[in-house]
Amino acid sequence: MKKLYDNVYEFTHPLIQHKITILRDKSTGTNEFRSVVEELGMLMGYEALADLPTEEIEIETPIETTKSPILSGRKLAIVPILRAGLGMVPGILALTPSAKVGHIGMYRDEDTHEPHEYFCKLPKPIEERTIVVTDPMLATGGSAVDAVNLIKEKGGRKIKFICIIGAPEGVEKFHKAHPDVELFIGHLDRELNENAYICPGLGDAGDRIFGTK
Ligand code: PRP
Ligand code: URA
Repeated sequence: MKKLYDNVYEFTHPLIQHKITILRDKSTGTNEFRSVVEELGMLMGYEALADLPTEEIEIETPIETTKSPILSGRKLAIVPILRAGLGMVPGILALTPSAKVGHIGMYRDEDTHEPHEYFCKLPKPIEERTIVVTDPMLATGGSAVDAVNLIKEKGGRKIKFICIIGAPEGVEKFHKAHPDVELFIGHLDRELNENAYICPGLGDAGDRIFGTK
């Protein structure tokens, strides 16, 4: 993992890079696209959760009694930004099956590229949970910044944000707005185009995951 700024990391693992290449390829169909997004959720989630708190408990192995660590504290909250963030959830849930799942609905206006919120439901007590927000694309950063604003307004404190592809503009905007939030990026791309799509990017993540358009 490469540190871009304090709390901002870009993955360098060859498996992650390989899978991102599959997503970028326009000939990758919905079925494969969806499974690779899920796999990336797992690989990136595994790394992003490396600092989860643990506590030692006493257990009996078939040989003797010993102390061994388990995860401690409240169950994790995974919060996808709808729709595309949903695609990464099963991969993270495979790592932490007892996590709670919240949802934030945001869509980007096609002309202004401004985000609009249409849904928010978070597991309680949100202030006591480590929160992992997922969205494959961080473009202008508007949706990510607003989603985290919303989580903070509801009391969320310890927040991690995982995206598969980030644009420099969006990453900078997000880090400025939320320097306390750990941001994990699968790959930092070159730039945004005039329609605020990431270049080279992978197109519209939501449409490619759900087969719409
Ligand atoms: C996409 C993507 C992000 C957002 C990124 O969602 O999944 O949520 O755009 O763009 P931004 O950084 O400029 O805000 P979209 O609004 O297309 O909704 P969808 O996931 O329902 O397709
Ligand atoms: N949303 C996407 O799905 N893709 C982009 O490139 C930008 C925003």
